[in-house]
Amino acid sequence: MTMHFNDETFRGDYTYHNSPEAIRRFPFPFDQDTYMYSVNIEQHPGGPKGSPFEFKFDVDEHYVSEMKDREITLAEDPLRCQSLPHMELAGWDLLELIMVAKAKDYPELFTLNRDGNAWHWINKPLGIEKKFTFLDPTTLPCGPMEYITRQTQGDFALLHERDGNLWMDAGMVTSQADWSLDFDVGMNFFEWHAPVPKARKMGVFDKALKFLLAVEQGQHYRRLNWTMTVNPRLDTSPENYHKWGPEKRTITPENVGQKQFLRVELQTFFRLPRSNALAFPIRCYLMNLADIATQPKWGRRLHRVLRDIDPALAEYKGFAVNQETIVNYLSQFDDGAETSPGI
Ligand code: HEM
Repeated sequence: MTMHFNDETFRGDYTYHNSPEAIRRFPFPFDQDTYMYSVNIEQHPGGPKGSPFEFKFDVDEHYVSEMKDREITLAEDPLRCQSLPHMELAGWDLLELIMVAKAKDYPELFTLNRDGNAWHWINKPLGIEKKFTFLDPTTLPCGPMEYITRQTQGDFALLHERDGNLWMDAGMVTSQADWSLDFDVGMNFFEWHAPVPKARKMGVFDKALKFLLAVEQGQHYRRLNWTMTVNPRLDTSPENYHKWGPEKRTITPENVGQKQFLRVELQTFFRLPRSNALAFPIRCYLMNLADIATQPKWGRRLHRVLRDIDPALAEYKGFAVNQETIVNYLSQFDDGAETSPGI
């Protein structure tokens, strides 16, 4: 398999774009014409071929540019990566999980040779070759979690389990939908979810936490979450709200198809072997409304979901201000046809 990597930006001139292949494999998140929060967790067994679910860590045409964007964000704000002292072992677990998976799933891009604890890692797209000693932090340029997540698309939270709860005690977070690792670090499952409307009262978080605590090694799960973002910006953080918040006011009926993006998060769960921590990768996929509408069933369905969504969710997800313009634009793709459940 050969892979082409786009040369593109997620800020400034926003040259991010999706190829026809990226559009085809986009993880469209709606399996019906309406949406409300639920415990939408499913098994993550691998496959289908070519989909973003095929491998544990999807590598696509945006890989190299996303890693450059992470580098810029970290240079401006190093607190986007934090690990409390007791989480270093979980960082090594994560490094192992990712390196082993990528070398197996993308042998033309990544190589890992292991002789006991003497490891040799080659990352061809980013031009990295590194010999290091597994579990010896002095042999890497930074901590193990930071090292591997500077080379892996998506945000990462590492959760420590204690007192029947999960605690966000480490993470790499540079492409988040308006939440802050620096604010959330050290919080538990209910605390960091407190701003979410409705879900706690619906029992969603009690059920979800119970499920997550029972995840065992070797079991893999995923769920999809979504929101809306103006411009293809990865770093929609509270820290930089002054940069991207005002961009919401630039949406017009003429430009909404190009500038308004559906932001889908592929969230996965992995129990880590030595630390017993839970790894929670949050992989972000961005696609503008015009590209979504190239798939008639997606354009039709997105129109209905956004038209009928609970106002509290439109407000929380930050698109209430543009909802009317978005829905008017999408209505041209809705022929009124009956739809059946499924994506
Ligand atoms: C939102 C983290 C698992 C449901 C969020 C937010 C964070 C977060 C930081 C943003 C809250 C804010 O506004 O500040 C995590 C982590 C998880 C996890 C680290 C792994 C342990 C889950 C699970 C569910 C869930 C299993 C299952 C239902 C939600 C929902 C939202 C949310 C519904 C609101 C999203 C939106 O409307 O855009 N989560 N979460 N989370 N989370 Fe989680």
